[in-house]
Amino acid sequence: MTYQDAVRTSRAPLQVPPRNRELVRFATLAANSHNTQPWIFTARGDDITIAPDFTRRCPAVDPDDHHLFVSLGCAVENLALAAAMLGWRANPTVVGDNIVVALEPAPPAGSPLAAAIPARQCTRAVFDGRPVAPDILRQLEDACREPAVSTILITERAGVSKVADYVLEGNSAQMRDKAFMRELVDWMRFNEADAVASMDGLFSRASGNPALPAWIARPLLKLAFTESGENRKYREQIDSSAGIIVLTADRSDKAHWIAIGRACQRFGLQATALGLKYAFINQPVEVATLRPQFAASLGLGERRPDIVMRFGTGPDLPKSLRRTPELVMRG
Ligand SMILES: Cc1cc2nc3c(=O)[nH]c(=O)nc-3n(C[C@H](O)[C@H](O)[C@H](O)COP(=O)(O)O)c2cc1C
Repeated sequence: MTYQDAVRTSRAPLQVPPRNRELVRFATLAANSHNTQPWIFTARGDDITIAPDFTRRCPAVDPDDHHLFVSLGCAVENLALAAAMLGWRANPTVVGDNIVVALEPAPPAGSPLAAAIPARQCTRAVFDGRPVAPDILRQLEDACREPAVSTILITERAGVSKVADYVLEGNSAQMRDKAFMRELVDWMRFNEADAVASMDGLFSRASGNPALPAWIARPLLKLAFTESGENRKYREQIDSSAGIIVLTADRSDKAHWIAIGRACQRFGLQATALGLKYAFINQPVEVATLRPQFAASLGLGERRPDIVMRFGTGPDLPKSLRRTPELVMRG
């Protein structure tokens, strides 16, 4: 299968039957940390259970599995939106580490967010610097509405620049951390063939980098992927963005991380539906020693800032791949 075939197949319009396979396919198109796709789906009758796949955890960047459970929340949101399109109301309940989604018949309800699921992507590129109109900002903020989740929207340049300072500080800390770098490189896919072989991970061209044979790319990484170069790139990318959204939950536990995932997935879908691009810039919330200072700078006190995203107008990049439903469904 070519890279393009894999993208086309995974992002084809929703087709039923089979209902459960299609709902799982749409769920897996969600944003997820390092494109690890850390989920296992089990369908029984009208229940679909989403469980964490701890074999895909990232202990260096995500030691407490925060991002892993946020990723599950992103998948739940896609599943619920896709189910509504097909005439099923999704009622998710968090049961221990799992999310049990009970489906019940309802009038079919398509929505711009559901329609945006196959097109959504994280765009790690320089945007065009254009501001976003106030009514669009309101729609983006509204998309994040979720019980126990608060949104901080930053569009004034001084505030954006202050967040960029934290992103750069976090990036420097991460690039000096051998375990972080080893884990990141493990999830990098340097060319189409390697990406298609695993159907997961961070494909170079989807991050705006060239595709190369792995034996060339790996040694080159040390020369081309430098702390100062990456910091320059992040500064430029953030400066070119119309604004930043920070999500923070009332509490820090799995159920709240899943709620954060639902809110952040809706944000990405709403941005896509409005013709905007977005990307995560989570360094300030990933580096545990930096997180309290970042929280204080936002006036959050003891609350944990969970997710940081920038948005604006930008180019299309190649889409990332997903494993097929057969590979993530059990039973
Ligand atoms: C919890 C979470 C944390 C993430 N953190 C980052 C990040 O710090 N930097 C980044 O570039 N992308 C980040 N991402 C985006 C993922 O890498 C991206 O969703 C994944 O590679 C799949 O690509 P796609 O969203 O374009 O389909 C994050 C996604 C999630 C859900």
